[in-house]
Amino acid sequence: MDGSRSPQTPPVLILLGPPGAGKGTQARMLEERFGLVQLSTGDLLRAAVASGSEAGKAAKAVMEAGGLVSDDIVIAILRDRLAAPDCAKGVILDGFPRTTTQAEALDQMLAETGQQIDAAVLLEVDDVKMVVRIAGRFTCGACGEGYHDTFKAPKVADTCDNCGAQQMTRRADDNAATVMSRLDAYHEQTSPLVAYYTDKGALRRVDAMGEIAEIQNAIAALTESVMR
Ligand code: AP5
Repeated sequence: MDGSRSPQTPPVLILLGPPGAGKGTQARMLEERFGLVQLSTGDLLRAAVASGSEAGKAAKAVMEAGGLVSDDIVIAILRDRLAAPDCAKGVILDGFPRTTTQAEALDQMLAETGQQIDAAVLLEVDDVKMVVRIAGRFTCGACGEGYHDTFKAPKVADTCDNCGAQQMTRRADDNAATVMSRLDAYHEQTSPLVAYYTDKGALRRVDAMGEIAEIQNAIAALTESVMR
């Protein structure tokens, strides 16, 4: 990474961090604020599970146990999604890459279209507090807006502030036991990416234990600096 991105090249940002760090929350903010597209491999895999596809069938049990889905499946899903026309606006990768194999595959995919990673933003958090964040999380099933029992409750109970639907859902893997497995998977298989992106000069660290709005401001400032 030499920090000199051609203005014709769509921005590529990665959000790194353990489960509950706020990757999804912050990616949706960047999407709205900068017109970038959020690519969440967790969401893509949950859609594959819901559709009953072969990839979804293979992923289901692994996700429910809190492990990582195989690199082959995730890379194929991400590659397809990245090729869609809307990604020409630039992307925020939320939950990908999660292994060194995935990071190398991403470098290869981007090189094929003359792109590169502008920044890998590490959301630094306290693991113990992530269990509380995840256990309190719920989402509007109609529009996908994320909420939290304590930190981001809807203005009217069980009603989405964004679209007014009353279809709040909780994820099957958001229970204390599975969260511990997901944290273990992060430390064993994903945390080596901190060194990977440091070596490339792309790593940016953000303290993600504060208020959601403060963290948004920090990431937005960083995004503006890499998009210049
Ligand atoms: P995925 O869906 O990516 O889950 P995750 O990484 O475990 O991350 P989460 O979605 O749990 O947390 P987040 O960091 O997005 O936090 P959020 O913003 O929601 O992956 C699920 C599974 O799919 C994996 O376990 C794996 O099996 C599989 N998978 C996915 N990608 C894969 C890959 N590349 N390779 C292999 N397998 C893959 O915030 C959490 C809560 O906290 C919310 O309620 C939010 O409102 C609240 N909150 C956020 N920020 C704050 C704050 N600053 N203060 C207080 N509350 C906050």
